[in-house]
Amino acid sequence: MTTNYDMLGRDELNDLEAILSISNSDVDEVIHAVRANSDVLFTWDYERSKPALIKLYEKAKTSQWNAETDLDWSIPVDQEAEVRKNQNANKSAFGEIDLKGTVFSTWGEDDWVKLGVEMQNWSLSQFMHGEQGALICTAQIVETVPWIDAKYYAATQVMDEARHVEVFARYLDTKLSGHYPVNAHLKMLLDDIISDDRWDMTYLGMQIMVEGLALAAFGFMQQMSSEPLLKKLLRYVMSDEARHVAFGVLSLQDFYTELNSKEIRERQEFAYEAAVRMRDRFLQQEVWERMGVDVKEALTLTLADPNRNAFSGVLFSKIVPNCKKLGLLDAGDGWLRTKFTELGVIEYEDWVDTGSEYDSLDAVSQDRTA
Ligand SMILES: [Fe+2]
Ligand SMILES: [Fe+2]
Repeated sequence: MTTNYDMLGRDELNDLEAILSISNSDVDEVIHAVRANSDVLFTWDYERSKPALIKLYEKAKTSQWNAETDLDWSIPVDQEAEVRKNQNANKSAFGEIDLKGTVFSTWGEDDWVKLGVEMQNWSLSQFMHGEQGALICTAQIVETVPWIDAKYYAATQVMDEARHVEVFARYLDTKLSGHYPVNAHLKMLLDDIISDDRWDMTYLGMQIMVEGLALAAFGFMQQMSSEPLLKKLLRYVMSDEARHVAFGVLSLQDFYTELNSKEIRERQEFAYEAAVRMRDRFLQQEVWERMGVDVKEALTLTLADPNRNAFSGVLFSKIVPNCKKLGLLDAGDGWLRTKFTELGVIEYEDWVDTGSEYDSLDAVSQDRTA
């Protein structure tokens, strides 16, 4: 029986000491090498045999956009003013928690604005790093997936991801006020995905888990933001991400019916581990460090806020239905259902899966026909 300790390096899900002990120890690193272990597969079977992937590939070809010309980069962005507009949202880092006796009770308006600014710098930086992860993983899928239709589709996704890294890097450089290095929990997850020798684990880790979470997180930020450039940028990125998550669902669905129960259990455990790593990353430990406050105190307060759990739950609103569609939720003894229940995210199981909804999120085609 694999325990939490085996998978996560800790028994208790909310063990803050253990979570904080994972931190980025090399913030000045420029090049990061990871050894890939999977076979690179040629296929001599060029038969188009996966209709759902053929459809997705055609959709991808007509939904390409150009970051240079489809977005208006001349729009000025006053980051502080945007943060002030959302001031209540920033203070709600702690929701309704009583801050009396903590350092935060002495904070004035400027401190809360600074926190909001840092949180935005942090979020966009992690999106950018995650996008590079997607770029690399999808290039890897071109090499490792055995079907020609999937290689074709993945090739279009590689282009999409290059565009995503490009737009987040440009927005950070020209509109915001600072960068953060990759979060250690995210980096650990990306390393695990890339180094796994089973080709479908790249899909499960990236297309289902990382991109599933990204799709929900972009949607949340898109709704919260009133800044027109960021709003459109996120809407366009989401159009692509919905296809990418659908690519994962449509590719793995049949494949998973061929796996035995031990192999399925390994996929369930991988999905759970990825879910916890992503939840840990959203604790934003580096922001508190930069604010110069006691990180553990800040996170203890954050975790005590019931609204916080609702927010991190929403981030799983795409992942849970997609795992269900793949049969992972209830396979075997329903292990993943139990784990997602412990994480407090099982309520999303019957939300729409992305294999069915990607077309409706295609803002790029909708704009062109409008
Ligand atoms: Fe992306
Ligand atoms: Fe993507």
